[in-house]
Amino acid sequence: MEGNPHSVLEGMIIAGKAVGASVGYIYVRTEYPLAVSNLKLAVKAAEEAGFLGKKIFGSDFDFEMRIMEGAGAFVCGEETALMASIEGKRGMPMPKPPFPAERGLFGKPTVINNVETFATVPVAMLMGVDVYAAKGTEKSSGTKTFALTGHVAHTGLIEVPFSTTLREIIVDIGGGVIDDDGVNRGADFKAVQIGGPSGGCLTQEHLDMSLDYDNLLKVGAMIGSGGLVVMNQQTCMIKIARFFMQFTQNESCGKCVVCREGTRQMLELLDDIIEGRATAETIELLEELAHVVKIGSLCGLGKTAPNPVLSTLKYFREEYDAHVFDKTCPTGQCEALSRYVIVPELCKSCSLCARACPVDAISGSKGVPYVIDQEICIRCGVCMDTCKFNAIVK
Ligand SMILES: Cc1cc2nc3c(=O)[nH]c(=O)nc-3n(C[C@H](O)[C@H](O)[C@H](O)COP(=O)(O)O)c2cc1C
Ligand code: SF4
Ligand code: SF4
Ligand code: SF4
Repeated sequence: MEGNPHSVLEGMIIAGKAVGASVGYIYVRTEYPLAVSNLKLAVKAAEEAGFLGKKIFGSDFDFEMRIMEGAGAFVCGEETALMASIEGKRGMPMPKPPFPAERGLFGKPTVINNVETFATVPVAMLMGVDVYAAKGTEKSSGTKTFALTGHVAHTGLIEVPFSTTLREIIVDIGGGVIDDDGVNRGADFKAVQIGGPSGGCLTQEHLDMSLDYDNLLKVGAMIGSGGLVVMNQQTCMIKIARFFMQFTQNESCGKCVVCREGTRQMLELLDDIIEGRATAETIELLEELAHVVKIGSLCGLGKTAPNPVLSTLKYFREEYDAHVFDKTCPTGQCEALSRYVIVPELCKSCSLCARACPVDAISGSKGVPYVIDQEICIRCGVCMDTCKFNAIVK
């Protein structure tokens, strides 16, 4: 929409001709001003050139394009909520059937597709369907755009055939995994979150798998909007699950109890795990609740909200266990579970740390290494910053 809005319009005009529609709507979040202004320019240019309007190029086909700016709710991407929003109602999903193709916008049969789908239509038609389809796999034909981001050297939008593997995307296109400082290109790969907040994670065992619909379905993930967030070994998977759960919880429209309350409870259980209050029951409850939210929610938001939790539980169970049973975060990312320890061999007994500690958790005397009382320590990290001899580790 920002770079080549004409391709989206062309795909929509073709779709309009195919189904006999006379009006097309583009629903775009108002927070994307470049997309909005470029789309408006493209619509104007298409009208002036005669691609839009009445009796297009002397035919009996009329097609008008309207741009609808949405206020920025994730749930308004769900098709029934999207139509409600265009109709001026609150953007909340409705049960299906009726499907939009039967009774959609303003009660009329409606085709709803992703921008990428529409933009691909003219390309596939120009190339010839067989040539286009030959690019992917048998069941996932053609190409897919991904938004590559996270711990990878080159981030950005990429378009690849569906037969491309995760390794090719991360290494050949992304330039390899980087560490948190962005300097080390040889950092170890841990996982990738695919499909945005509703997706799941893929791990090292999936690196040589092509990212087509069938393969992803088999491993419990989905392509969704094509988000690919690469994560290195320094990433805490429980914090990642919490991050996405927070997002979906915020964006739940509140219509169904299981989604509205279930996502909130799941978030609290994840907080218990991250902050050291969890027991074996916490994980059991989290898993059970995830299935309840998945089954009992009306729309795709609730049905997929537990995916990040379920997939991290599936592939990184030992990380959950370390948080719950050993009260440690293997990556050291969870502040409440980290331990600050003085290395006796490095300590010069200078007492700087003890004087800086806000809760008097450090004690010692001249000539004897200082120690931290873990019961008193509030894990603020001040001592580590204070020590000039790097004698305190986390
Ligand atoms: C919660 C939720 C959010 C969604 N957000 C988007 C979105 O931002 N953009 C989009 O194209 N589709 C979004 N979708 C999917 C659309 O509702 C629709 O299924 C899709 O765009 C169909 O297009 P396609 O068949 O061409 O992929 C969302 C679905 C759900 C359940
Ligand atoms: S599942 Fe969640 S977002 Fe979807 S309708 Fe129900 S409450 Fe709203
Ligand atoms: S500041 Fe460092 S060297 Fe000094 S007492 Fe504390 S740990 Fe030891
Ligand atoms: S982390 Fe903070 S509270 Fe704990 S010993 Fe160091 S300075 Fe004291």
